[in-house]
Amino acid sequence: MSASTTEATREKSFCRERSDKLFERAKVRIPGGVNSPVRSCKSVGSSPLFIASADGAYMIDEDDNRYIDYVGSWGPMILGHRHPCVLSAVEDALVHGTSYGAPSRLEVEMAELICDLVPSVEMVRMVNSGTEACMSAVRLARAFTKRELVIKFDGCYHGHADSFLVKAGSGLATLGLSEATSSPGVPTQFTGLTMSLPFNDVDALRQAFAQKTAEIACVIVEPIVGNSGLLIPSPEFLKSLTGLCKDSGALLIFDEVMTGFRVALGGAQERFGVKPDLTTFGKVIGGGLPVGAYGGRRDVMSMVAPEGAVYQAGTLSGNPLAMAAGLAQLRYLQAGKVRLYEKLSQTTEDLAEGLKGVLAEADVSGQVLHVPGMLSLFFTDSSEPVQSFDDALKCDTKFFGSVWRNLTERGVYWPPSQFEAAFLSIMHGKNEIKETVAAFKAAIGEAKKTKK
Ligand SMILES: Cc1ncc(COP(=O)(O)O)c(C=O)c1O
Repeated sequence: MSASTTEATREKSFCRERSDKLFERAKVRIPGGVNSPVRSCKSVGSSPLFIASADGAYMIDEDDNRYIDYVGSWGPMILGHRHPCVLSAVEDALVHGTSYGAPSRLEVEMAELICDLVPSVEMVRMVNSGTEACMSAVRLARAFTKRELVIKFDGCYHGHADSFLVKAGSGLATLGLSEATSSPGVPTQFTGLTMSLPFNDVDALRQAFAQKTAEIACVIVEPIVGNSGLLIPSPEFLKSLTGLCKDSGALLIFDEVMTGFRVALGGAQERFGVKPDLTTFGKVIGGGLPVGAYGGRRDVMSMVAPEGAVYQAGTLSGNPLAMAAGLAQLRYLQAGKVRLYEKLSQTTEDLAEGLKGVLAEADVSGQVLHVPGMLSLFFTDSSEPVQSFDDALKCDTKFFGSVWRNLTERGVYWPPSQFEAAFLSIMHGKNEIKETVAAFKAAIGEAKKTKK
């Protein structure tokens, strides 16, 4: 199928026979048939589309349906799929071996590059996932401050380590678990050491610090939230966050697993001019291979073993294939900095404007929030700005599900949850945006017809 395939042809030819058969097989041997819950597409009243290949801004499923991809592997694919620079770097690395369990040059180059691009990071440790990065950063913050309480924010997701599964955003909300304070299996003693506050609520933050100052080891935050759908921090909230942490001696951890090297080359902290004590990374730094990292102030990072006593280790940490892919992607972004981020920003803006137009024309209430490379369309009252997880929870998720199902049939692969942000790549261009906006127009029109 060519990129110029018309929407009508797509709709007519949409088929999911092979995906459905694979899902039946998968459910027998994999819990829920998927290896990460949101992929089940349950909350949008659908089931997974099994992807056979991807290229640039597109993915093709097992039934040969072609989609404009707005999941981008949940963030890593900022250069689009199969970018030549990433492919050739991995091919080159592969010739030398797949894992050594001993240091390699690529790890040093990766650490140096991350520190160059993100000035708050003076030392960095590579791990294998964002979950591992956040879990390790919190352990380190507790060791450094000799305190135990962790503050997070409702709707922020920092991976699935026990102490983070408190009002943890998209994954749990998508499964209808937003009210749960944790997942079964998480001891209450663990979550008892995590306090979750409403995002953007300065008073709640001040109050928590007033009551618990001497106990707070750290505040961990998605500086731009992607896991409630997109939430943007108010300047006052950011200011309070940095000020209160500084005054109390608690460490400020920016979870830039999603935003790192995406919303700007130096991440959200570059955009906002904030210097957190520690930062966690993932996604973009692996170019689509499994990776994570945490880094920050030298005096804090020096406590990590073997330089210090805070234990953290990993058989595959700093894996040469992941380092090669991530380095290639970061270097490409660094070389094209202004041009690439301007393009990403403009494309996101164009999509946002297009979607706002569709909402207005269809007389459907909703809000479009966006930052370069990330966007959310919330089906909610347009007069109440979405600034917190509770605001996001007011969305019409049934309507979202109906729109989502109609979109897939029209060749747009949108995140299968109202509480996830869409990701754009530099391979998304004017044609893709035009087609996406047209697909939304048709999908919203269809969803309106069936709305009760
Ligand atoms: C902000 C944030 N932090 C941490 C994580 C966990 O990363 P991983 O899925 O690689 O464990 C995610 C995953 O989506 C995330 O969005």
